[in-house]
Amino acid sequence: MTKAAAIACAIGAMQSACASAKPAVPLSDEAVRARADALIAQMTPEEKAAQLVTYFAFAIPGQEKLPDTRAAAGAGSFLFVTDPKETNHLQHVAMEQSRLKIPLLFGFDVIHGLSTIFPVPIGQAASWDMAMIEKDQSIAAAEARAVGIHWAFAPMVDIARDPRWGRMVEGAGEDPYLGSAVAAAQVRGFQGPRIGAPGHIIAGPKHFAGYGAALGGRDYDESNISDNELWNVYLPPFKAAVDAGAGNIMSAYMGLNGIPASGNHWLLTDVLRKTWGFKGWVVTDAEAVNSLKTHGYADSARQAGVRSLNAGVDMEMAFASAAFGNLPTALAAGDVTKNRIDQAVRRVLEAKIRMGLFENPYVDEAKAAKILRSPENLTAARIAAERSAVLLRNEGGLLPLDRVGVKSIAVIGGLADSPIDSNGPWVFAPNSPSTQTILDGIRSKLGASVTIRYAPGVKIPKRFNPTIADTMNGIVKRPEPADDTSGIAEAVSAAQQSDVAVVVVGEPQNMSGEMASRSTLDLPGRQQELLDAVVATGKPVIVLLLNGRPLDLKDTKAKAILDLWYPGSRGGDAAANLLFGDAVPGGKLPFTWPRDVGQVPLIYAHLTSHDPANAEKRYSNESNAPRYPFGYGLSYSTFEYANLKVDRPRIAPGGSVTVSVDLKNVGARTADEVAELYIHQRTGTAARPVRELKGFQRVTLKPGETRTLQFHLGPDELRYWNAASHDWVIDASIFDVAVGGDSTARFGASFTVGGQ
Ligand code: NOJ
Repeated sequence: MTKAAAIACAIGAMQSACASAKPAVPLSDEAVRARADALIAQMTPEEKAAQLVTYFAFAIPGQEKLPDTRAAAGAGSFLFVTDPKETNHLQHVAMEQSRLKIPLLFGFDVIHGLSTIFPVPIGQAASWDMAMIEKDQSIAAAEARAVGIHWAFAPMVDIARDPRWGRMVEGAGEDPYLGSAVAAAQVRGFQGPRIGAPGHIIAGPKHFAGYGAALGGRDYDESNISDNELWNVYLPPFKAAVDAGAGNIMSAYMGLNGIPASGNHWLLTDVLRKTWGFKGWVVTDAEAVNSLKTHGYADSARQAGVRSLNAGVDMEMAFASAAFGNLPTALAAGDVTKNRIDQAVRRVLEAKIRMGLFENPYVDEAKAAKILRSPENLTAARIAAERSAVLLRNEGGLLPLDRVGVKSIAVIGGLADSPIDSNGPWVFAPNSPSTQTILDGIRSKLGASVTIRYAPGVKIPKRFNPTIADTMNGIVKRPEPADDTSGIAEAVSAAQQSDVAVVVVGEPQNMSGEMASRSTLDLPGRQQELLDAVVATGKPVIVLLLNGRPLDLKDTKAKAILDLWYPGSRGGDAAANLLFGDAVPGGKLPFTWPRDVGQVPLIYAHLTSHDPANAEKRYSNESNAPRYPFGYGLSYSTFEYANLKVDRPRIAPGGSVTVSVDLKNVGARTADEVAELYIHQRTGTAARPVRELKGFQRVTLKPGETRTLQFHLGPDELRYWNAASHDWVIDASIFDVAVGGDSTARFGASFTVGGQ
């Protein structure tokens, strides 16, 4: 479409031509802007304000027609509509009844799949497989686009260093380097090559910024983050997402160092716009504008709207009454400028134009049904579940089980046969038909040849499923205690009669996620007693974990522990393949796994402090060591690293080195290894962490195969933000290098930056 045609289209002179005019090539930035500006020129302040809100489109009892009324009045966007009939219906209302016929933008929490459910994000991160993550989010995007969703409230790129925080499950864990790689891969997957690419949707990295550092791990609590941590740890994944082209950013709920994030001009304008050059639009988290009042940062909804808009928020996410509804009166009073409102509206309209919604506002409902949960998508979900699994223990090589030798198997634990808990949080019932459980997967692999004894053992703590009213009133879901242990005897007997026991334990899905912080990492309910009783039978026990955070299994003597996270639609097949060796675990932990909740936060990239010789005795009653280190994960094979080399001994600041290492599969199976590269800067103008991840590769090697891996270390890897000089620096120093299978890998080479 020509620029003139685009403008004519936007101002309504050629609406019929627009509907059939599909831009063959994406419009230039100038044409997109011209088209948006032509619309803005016709809009009243009320119509502009309406574009700046995304409303929850729940069927609120008694107000079922509210979304229609809003769409007819020119609302900009809705969230939580996933039925293509409903997106089409609302879109028809907007296109036919609103004065300017501006299409709606539909957003949703497409976190780990829409209908085909992939492992939860912390599990995907544990795969360390960026190509897979990108592909799986592109599948999620295609399913979402097919039902009329244009925008994902994802990826969640908040660094999480305190596993008491329930939302650790939604992110990539504790490390900024891994977190940045995962953030960029997800943005690429959602958006494809450009915003508006067919079958793709806009990515909205969240929650900007610092939400993961909630005090005490308590969801929504304030974050107090030092300059050092903010720039070196919490902001990098957001920067990576912006650099990958993310079209949207969601601002966070909590106060960051005393200023609410959703009214924080420094964060939303100075950092995001001026320093990083972000071009998309900023939406708040749900009700975060109104909650500026709760923070004591605004005395009224009107002031909240003004502060938020002036800080850099472009769109409010609202349940009921939008604070941005006050913008027209605030404009008349001179509290906000026309320019600032127009700028926000332009950003929203530009997204709609780039997505092609003026030409193609509707979806093909019949086609959507074919795309959702297609066989290819479900296969991708199975592979993702296999590649996300982390083998934490495997004494005596118990796993993989021998298909021929095992004649009977006890499958124990209520989570083994719970579809909702196989999927994990952020999966909504209408989208998850016929999810396969772990028991389903084991049954379908073994058929009738093996006796399978299933015993739930103990009740899973009962879920509290909030109603819409509960959600809107902020009623917290707390699990009810489940004290019935009467099923343990049956589970013990099933184990006694079987060759091997598979015990599935963990957290029911809604004990992980939003409003699901916990002050303990213990297994909920009476699951620990169940596990201990089954282990006491002396039968070989394999623990399968469903979880979104590290858990404390006490000192269980189970022979094998395999972490499946919440594995998704095809978690059952994946579990069975992993148990019987048709898939080999290759995932690695994206966080440090503490021994005890009292140790948290516990991170691998810590600074050395006074008296390091006694660092292991920082607590009088507990070791300082984790249960499992960051980056840890076993395989059914074994790997050896040799010949670690740096190609040059010295570089100038700004220069680069290449690190190489030989990786050999010395075991008997084809398997994957994640080779992790760590550096340690010995001295500097700030204290530097004992080690930092700066490279990784997941590779597949046949038995006996050796591959030489190369890693690049340049300015991006060697620089850091110096809290004293308030700038990025590369110090002159010796840098030690380690490459290995986890964050305990030995430093075996070094190079020098600067000097001579
Ligand atoms: C609140 C959550 O914090 C956010 O992550 C989510 O995207 C919105 N609700 C919408 O569901």
